[in-house]
Amino acid sequence: QFTPRVFSGAQPSGNLHLGNYLGALRNWVRMQSEEFETIYCMVDLHAITVWQNPTELQHATRELCAGYIASGLNPEKSILFNQSQVPEHAQLAWIFNCVARMGWMQRMTQWKDKAGKNQQNASLGLFAYPALMAADILIYHATHVPVGEDQKQHLELTRDIAIKFNNDFGVDFFPVTEPVIEGAATRVMSLRDGSKKMSKSDPSDMSRINLTDDAEAIAKKIRKAKTDPDALPSEAEGLEDRPEARNLVNIYAALNDQTIEQVLSEVGGKQFGEFKPMLADLAVAKLAPISTEMSRLMGDQAEIDRILARGAERAREIAAPILQKTYEIVGM
Ligand code: ADP
Ligand code: NA
Repeated sequence: QFTPRVFSGAQPSGNLHLGNYLGALRNWVRMQSEEFETIYCMVDLHAITVWQNPTELQHATRELCAGYIASGLNPEKSILFNQSQVPEHAQLAWIFNCVARMGWMQRMTQWKDKAGKNQQNASLGLFAYPALMAADILIYHATHVPVGEDQKQHLELTRDIAIKFNNDFGVDFFPVTEPVIEGAATRVMSLRDGSKKMSKSDPSDMSRINLTDDAEAIAKKIRKAKTDPDALPSEAEGLEDRPEARNLVNIYAALNDQTIEQVLSEVGGKQFGEFKPMLADLAVAKLAPISTEMSRLMGDQAEIDRILARGAERAREIAAPILQKTYEIVGM
């Protein structure tokens, strides 16, 4: 009944990093050439749930678009646009604010992590974030959402909202979306702390590899990455309880399109002193072309703005009738 359609997005709240690339973007690029209609968004409305400097936000939105294209998204094949330019996202989010329950939102681990100890001082938007995310997806009746592991809980909430809306109004209107969490690195960890995910919002730039980093920066960050004193194991079980070692092996496997087992059969027994330069060379080889292409694209910002404007128009053609129908179902 539903057209196979992919939706996903990233926040223009800082640099795209290796976690975004391996956990999400690479799957977006792959799905673009499969049977799906593909829609990829810069989610600026999500970014402002925590403070963003207005000038930097605008720059980061364009740079994110450049990062999408440099990573292999093609504006002719995929709809690329900025969330705030398609008002139907915020309009459907309000309906979903009235469908989702407080208890559901309070269980969200990202809310708890990001709000920290001072929940009373967090924005209301940060709390409602997952309802907006459900709207982002369901305003297109998207059937598949490729994301990293950290978004699993939010996607379950999206499914719960679709199911509750359909039940409340006795319709079969919103699809129950499938998460697509695939690859050897669906959760890339910080290079400084194996218990935290690599993130744009980590204050330490040494904790992540940005898609804009040059070869020297990439090599330095990998050289300084936290590890343990033992040699690499030759079997995956040997990585248990060694989160930093496992992270570097996962990254290597994902960048080289190998399984963990294949990587360990080649590097088992090596010390990090030998493995890290191999990983750095591989990361530079894979990421340098992306960073070069990003700077080239950033040289013509008017072109990026044209791509985003065209993408927003195409997105609205799908979103507007779905919002209209939602309003009718609700009685508005
Ligand atoms: P961030 O958390 O760095 O701000 P976003 O929230 O913009 O990143 O996430 C964009 C996409 O990248 C999402 O699909 C998310 O699941 C994925 N992602 C983010 N961080 C990681 C990571 N460390 N490992 C794997 N995927 C990630
Ligand atoms: Na995230």
